Amino acid sequence: MSTSPPQSVFLGVSGASGAPYAARLVQALAAAGCSLQLSISESGILVLRHELGLPAGTRAAVTGEFLQRAGATAQVFAPDDLGALPASGSSAPDAVVICPCSMSTAANIALGTSRTLMHRAADVALKERRPLIVVPRETPLTQIHLRRLLELAEAGAVVLPAMPGFYFRPQSLQDAVDHVAGKVLTALGFEQDLFPPWDGGLG
Ligand SMILES: Cc1cc2nc3c(=O)[nH]c(=O)nc-3n(C[C@H](O)[C@H](O)[C@H](O)COP(=O)(O)O)c2cc1C
Repeated sequence: MSTSPPQSVFLGVSGASGAPYAARLVQALAAAGCSLQLSISESGILVLRHELGLPAGTRAAVTGEFLQRAGATAQVFAPDDLGALPASGSSAPDAVVICPCSMSTAANIALGTSRTLMHRAADVALKERRPLIVVPRETPLTQIHLRRLLELAEAGAVVLPAMPGFYFRPQSLQDAVDHVAGKVLTALGFEQDLFPPWDGGLG
């Protein structure tokens, strides 16, 4: 996997808990000058609205408010737009991130079902040997979940669970969110300053 930062990223936001991770990621990728493609699942829209306190409205209105709050712009795709550019290996983005990744979406990607654009974009990343980072969120995990996540890792995905660390002593919930978002940025090959590097001190 290349470690040079991607110029274009497809972000799939599925219906797992963790909307603040997606919001921080969108903000950071925009700040890094990355060209962003965004697709939010039906459940993802519900969870974004609930967890970020976005006003009720159409899919377009919720997505627009989500991007505006993050200070970002993106090319937005409906979940069923299987003819869109990210669905083809010949026009695929440099990298795909699914954050947060529900167990349903993890299973669909692992099984290669490609029922939605998000699944297909992830499938294309794997087949084209481009970076795919999935940020699963569920607890506890069943054997089914664990098997699907193992399959994703075996197929070449980076499985980066939404598990903030506490060794850097986060002062706020946002610091913990930033740790996960920063780990995704690092996995993509970006320099990041969302959390400080470990300084080796166990004081
Ligand atoms: C508020 C809320 C929180 C949810 N949190 C999770 C979660 O953390 N992990 C998960 O796998 N599913 C979670 N779900 C269930 C998924 O949204 C559901 O399985 C859905 O079918 C996933 O579809 P998608 O992957 O296409 O978004 C949650 C649903 C709601 C409404």
